[in-house]
Amino acid sequence: MTWLITGGAGYIGAHVAKAMAFAGERVVVLDDISTGMPGRLPEDIPLVRGSASDRALLDRVLAEHAVTGVVHLAAKKQVGQSVEQPLLYYRENVTGLTVLLEAVVAAGVRRFLFSSSAAVYGVPDVDLITEDTPCAPINPYGETKLAGEWLVRAAGRAHGLSTACLRYFNVAGAARPELADTGVYNVVPMFFDRLTRGEAPRIFGDDYPTPDGTCVRDYIHVADLADAHLAVARKLGGETAAGDLTVNVGRGEGVSVRELADLVGEVTGRPVDAVIEPRRAGDAARAVASAARMSRELGWSARLGVREMVESAWEGWCLRHPEARLR
Ligand SMILES: NC(=O)c1ccc[n+]([C@@H]2O[C@H](COP(=O)([O-])OP(=O)(O)OC[C@H]3O[C@@H](n4cnc5c(N)ncnc54)[C@H](O)[C@@H]3O)[C@@H](O)[C@H]2O)c1
Repeated sequence: MTWLITGGAGYIGAHVAKAMAFAGERVVVLDDISTGMPGRLPEDIPLVRGSASDRALLDRVLAEHAVTGVVHLAAKKQVGQSVEQPLLYYRENVTGLTVLLEAVVAAGVRRFLFSSSAAVYGVPDVDLITEDTPCAPINPYGETKLAGEWLVRAAGRAHGLSTACLRYFNVAGAARPELADTGVYNVVPMFFDRLTRGEAPRIFGDDYPTPDGTCVRDYIHVADLADAHLAVARKLGGETAAGDLTVNVGRGEGVSVRELADLVGEVTGRPVDAVIEPRRAGDAARAVASAARMSRELGWSARLGVREMVESAWEGWCLRHPEARLR
């Protein structure tokens, strides 16, 4: 099989591309480098620069590389920006996906793996979120991911594609420092950023109905997430693969923001004296995956813990911010 990985120069995509190539799969990356970095990819992984919604380019790449499966990670992913620019998010994440699926169907590609998100669930009031928990996204980003899932499943049913939608929970860490997330949109890099600037990290709300009052989340190491893609890709590529699969990718364990802050303090060697800010709109008290379906259907579960996530993320942060270590 040859897999086209859209968004493969991004934070998660580069981990996926490398993990799949290392495991012996043929991969080719398509990325417009809008937020990605070519340097994340080794030279033996071909990188085509361009848009995953450019139909002519897609037709050429799918044919030239004899692509038999697609892993689609390219997307806009900032919740706040999606509220301000919903049309951009729908165009990129939904209209763009329609064009990609049209090209995939026309080229006779039969396997499609889609990056979805726990954002599709919104703020469910449940202990563990299963794939059957009703989806009720509360921002345009989550809406576009849910609409994307609908598109992928409908196209799969109509055109005989085997499909998988992977609902990632909170992704953190790095397999190698140079692959680390460069954005400051998730809580771990946000803590590092404040510490590096000599400012107190912020915790939004400590009066939630959770054991220590701060929000509880499910964190997954990006190396585990990449490994999950490989497991799902192999399932889709198998002889008997058909139909669709929708799975949570998490650890099934809740970690509070306060616990995470303490761990960041231990790993960085600087106690985190966080300031408590008011709650942010749209934050659920608790969002923890049930990881049971992934375990049952693929025999897959995460191996790495939160300490490994914070340690590897810190190594990646210090590579780009050497002053952080010196402070
Ligand atoms: N990071 C998270 O915590 C998280 C959680 C849930 C879901 N996701 C999803 O995972 C996927 C990857 O996220 P990431 O964190 O690696 O983000 P990222 O921004 O690092 O990666 C996205 C990649 O896609 C590329 N890209 C964007 N639009 C493109 C287009 N139209 N054509 C070609 N390339 C394009 C970018 O250049 C970048 O390399 C996204 O679909 C995102 O919604 C991420």
